[in-house]
Amino acid sequence: MTLKDTLKKLTEAYGPSGEEKEVSSLIIGMVKDNADDIFEDNLGNLFVVKKGKGPKVMISAHMDEIGIIVTHIDENGFLRIAPVGGISPRLLVGQRLRFNSGLIGTVYHEKLKELKELDWSKIYLDIGAENLESATKSVKIGDLACLDQPFKEQREGRYMAKSMDDRAGCAVLVEVINRLNGELPQEACFVFSVQEELGLRGAKTAAYRYEPDFGLAVDVTLVGDTPKAPTMAVSLGKGPAIKVKDSSVLCHPAVRRFMIDIADENCIPYQLEVLTRGGTDAGAIHLTREGVPSGAISIPCRYVHTASEVVDKIDLDYAVTLLEKLLLSTWPGTEGLYSR
Ligand code: CO
Ligand code: ZN
Repeated sequence: MTLKDTLKKLTEAYGPSGEEKEVSSLIIGMVKDNADDIFEDNLGNLFVVKKGKGPKVMISAHMDEIGIIVTHIDENGFLRIAPVGGISPRLLVGQRLRFNSGLIGTVYHEKLKELKELDWSKIYLDIGAENLESATKSVKIGDLACLDQPFKEQREGRYMAKSMDDRAGCAVLVEVINRLNGELPQEACFVFSVQEELGLRGAKTAAYRYEPDFGLAVDVTLVGDTPKAPTMAVSLGKGPAIKVKDSSVLCHPAVRRFMIDIADENCIPYQLEVLTRGGTDAGAIHLTREGVPSGAISIPCRYVHTASEVVDKIDLDYAVTLLEKLLLSTWPGTEGLYSR
């Protein structure tokens, strides 16, 4: 399967935080022939292990996507909803939402005097029900839904879909798992984590269980290359970004140095990323137990947390190469940085 096919399958799957099962089943099917061990934990994190001697590395990409939860159903069968993860009500108006059952609803808003009044209390979800009774036959309070948009290739190598955050990261991990063969210089545990969008919850228990010597997250990041975008030194199509900092983590200098050295040695183009808002699984991994040196490979992405997130094939391909080369190299450790 090509990276594009993998990405299409994964982005079109249903998987708001807490309901990642469809995504995890797809991933198991994609990697099972190339894994030394596969298991899940109590929260639903999926672990795919490739054996090796020496230290252990955990590589995490989250399976969950932003979504909504049903909070109320009125007598006419209209639903009220609340966010699951960082989603804006303004970006939902006119969008279709899909429940796990396949049921589709449309989001719209009440009459407003001004657009700035638009918040969660003013929007509703129309599932085509006639009244409360018919609505409750298909939906219950607490049901989740995700955005419903097909994967599209906008132009060659430019991909648009919902949930690129972080199925793009999942697709990179799947590709690397299937490329690596033979014994690695360190054991690699690929974790497809749950509930990242609610505060890095899955990666926290996964890192505690696996006890890695160092950790990596692969996730999307924002870009500064659109009209009047907030100033940011990351663009689409200029290679994956090596994270320096975001709101959840200051990447460990040893991991950063390791990543930069490997990128330079292999002529892999990269950007350096400082994200002033937002976090990733590395934020949870590095605070595990006595502290785990951690970093992240970020995939530049436009319109993050909307129904039309856009990534570029160049960035994905080089993210795959960078991760593959990292896992084929021996982790140099933190020697000389923090001595006891
Ligand atoms: Co996100
Ligand atoms: Zn993400």
